[in-house]
Amino acid sequence: MASPLFSSLAFLVLILVARSSEAKDFLVGGNTESWEIPSSPSKTLNHWAEANRFQVGDSLVWKYDDKKDSVLEVTREHYLSCNTSSPIAEHRDGNTVVKLPRSGPYYFISGAEGACEKGEKLIVVVMSGRQRRSGGISPAPSPMEYDGPTMAPMSGGRKLTVGIKGGLVGVLAVMVMVARIL
Ligand SMILES: *[C@@H]1O[C@H](CO)[C@@H](O)[C@H](O)[C@H]1NC(C)=O
Repeated sequence: MASPLFSSLAFLVLILVARSSEAKDFLVGGNTESWEIPSSPSKTLNHWAEANRFQVGDSLVWKYDDKKDSVLEVTREHYLSCNTSSPIAEHRDGNTVVKLPRSGPYYFISGAEGACEKGEKLIVVVMSGRQRRSGGISPAPSPMEYDGPTMAPMSGGRKLTVGIKGGLVGVLAVMVMVARIL
């Protein structure tokens, strides 16, 4: 029944899936000078976040001058109002690593006086476990959807479902192709 070719193919697919779900470390902003007030509205950290796909188990890494700045993880409300008074977590070591143990949005703001108001803040949206980094079909959840006074969970939810369905269709198509070859 199970031909050697099929077994090898299945093994290859397994390796690819395993590789795509390896935990990654993301240097916030892509370089060590990024936890700063953005120099222009098109250079915000949320633009950087939107170009990346974060998965459960990945980590964020911040590099900054610990004498001038800090990283605060806050609620959505405190993110939107730049309220630094009671963060969920506070990091001021200059070399901060935050693990992302669940899917959904995370909100970070600068603890430096007035910096959040000038745009030194970040939303990272971690994909649910069923989305694959290598999928390509499913769109990454966008931080922009969370970055405003009104949330549209419906549109986000619908997109997600479409993404998962798209992924399934892709997998089925590959299986049919493999079955034809054999
Ligand atoms: C910041 O948040 C705290 C706790 O929710 C609240 O007591 C405080 O009034 C807020 N500060 C501002 C300036 O909104």
